[in-house]
Amino acid sequence: PRPRVWVSQPLFGDVIARLREHFDVRTVDTITQHSPQDIAQALGDVDGALVTLNDRIGAAEIAGASRLRVIANVGVGYNNLDLPALTQAGILASNTPDVLTQTTADFGWALMMAAARRISEAERWLRDGHWQQWNFETLLGGDVHGSTLGILGMGRIGQAIARRAAGFDMRVRYHNRSRLPVEVEQACAAHYVDFDTLLAQSDHLMLVLPYTPANHHLIDAAALARMPAHATLTNIARGGVVDEDALADALANGRLAAAGLDVFEGEPAINPRLLALRNAVLTPHIASGSLATRRAMVALAVDNLTAALGFGPAAGKPPSLLNPGARAASG
Ligand code: GLV
Ligand code: GLV
Repeated sequence: PRPRVWVSQPLFGDVIARLREHFDVRTVDTITQHSPQDIAQALGDVDGALVTLNDRIGAAEIAGASRLRVIANVGVGYNNLDLPALTQAGILASNTPDVLTQTTADFGWALMMAAARRISEAERWLRDGHWQQWNFETLLGGDVHGSTLGILGMGRIGQAIARRAAGFDMRVRYHNRSRLPVEVEQACAAHYVDFDTLLAQSDHLMLVLPYTPANHHLIDAAALARMPAHATLTNIARGGVVDEDALADALANGRLAAAGLDVFEGEPAINPRLLALRNAVLTPHIASGSLATRRAMVALAVDNLTAALGFGPAAGKPPSLLNPGARAASG
């Protein structure tokens, strides 16, 4: 019998159709908030699953999944997966790096510039019919060019963001768990600094780091207090990296100029204090959302799933495997 796979959300149908060459595919017609029980049930009798960042998969969800051999995540971040639990159970896991790097870096810049130059606020003001009140001090923002860009998390996306800064005559500072090789630093014209220095020196701080328990609320009231009052904060990582109440306080009290946020701790719910702030630019987790890139992410997840189950040109070698150790665990 053909292996069975579960596709947790409706994704590009023509891309997903490639799975039907090898597998029996089960999926849903509309975006679905799956309960942990639904996920456990769906995983119970399939060989593989293709999931997105809203689908949390941990020890409880895989406990009864005796045939499950692979979880292919659509997304570069995989904090929705309990990787140690999957590895221990001998289940392969994959993500979708590289294909989204440039698109996501573009969006980080778009959010930063929108925050610095008050673009969302200006558009609301215009649509609300205020142009008659325009004067030379209307909606003045901060400059991006010639300022210092701070990048927290210098992976592929962080580096792509850094490279874009050259055309804006910016100084680039970064902090990362580990310092990058000198050649990479030079290619990005980025200087390594410690976390507190990054906070103090950044005119525009961009968060691009993975979300781990150690990074929970890393940007809290104390961290925000170290930033200059004219600075902006842009988050394209995960909402949980920022203490949103502390951020709302700083934005409301003029201790931070503006924020650009694409991710939220309780998304799709949003902290109502952020919604009420004029100096917060808010977008619904769309940093990787160009048509070409979203299609490429789903295609890469399909390739990972197909290869992990032993089919296709890369059979046995999923291109972006996160846990090679799972093979040893499964013997
Ligand atoms: C999106 O947030 C991703 O991790 O790809
Ligand atoms: C992380 O994987 C990144 O691409 O920045």
